[in-house]
Amino acid sequence: MGAAAIVVEAKEAGGHLGTDIALRDLFPEIRKVVKKVPLIAAGGIVNGTEMAEMMDKYGADGVQVATRFVMTKECSVSDTFKQAMLNATKDDVTLIHSPVGLPGRALKTPFVRRMIDKEDLKTKECQYKCLKKCDHFYCISDRLIKACDGDFENGLFFTGENVYKIKDILTVKEVFDQFVSEAEAVYKEPNAPYRS
Ligand SMILES: Cc1cc2nc3c(=O)[nH]c(=O)nc-3n(C[C@H](O)[C@H](O)[C@H](O)COP(=O)(O)O)c2cc1C
Repeated sequence: MGAAAIVVEAKEAGGHLGTDIALRDLFPEIRKVVKKVPLIAAGGIVNGTEMAEMMDKYGADGVQVATRFVMTKECSVSDTFKQAMLNATKDDVTLIHSPVGLPGRALKTPFVRRMIDKEDLKTKECQYKCLKKCDHFYCISDRLIKACDGDFENGLFFTGENVYKIKDILTVKEVFDQFVSEAEAVYKEPNAPYRS
């Protein structure tokens, strides 16, 4: 239908998810059938080694990265959001039900714990009317805005699965520099980590 590129977003991604298949299983299946349109790999890529792996070994034309860039100085979310990500362990990331009708990947913060405990979180009035179909289980817009604004208790903090691997808040330039130098190291080194 004339798409300029296609993003293959796997289950490691943050936010709403369209699949439960891991990137390294999903990507090759799509690459097999999509030959001419550039394919961009997304979900769980947090460094240049993984970027090089997706491009060099799996034949991706590019990568889409979100979580690493939320954890940058320039990102406009609150410091609370960035600190929550920085402190996250593997077990702090979970799947949640979203009123959009899809599963979502988020940090296990107090609001998510209340959801897990089946507390009634329904908002009385719909302010945004953002969805054609909403089960009104809770207000997704309200909770995402709260997270952005730094309300740790009540916000919904979307994150990718591999957030626990990121140990610092950098500038965007530092992230790019790191990605480039890590990727270059892979290309120069026949025994690069992903090749082992
Ligand atoms: C905080 C956050 C918010 C996101 N919001 C959206 C969104 O509104 N729409 C969308 O298509 N993808 C959204 N995503 C998914 C990203 O676009 C991206 O494909 C995915 O998270 C990549 O995986 P990574 O976060 O592990 O790098 C979001 C991701 C994060 C972490």
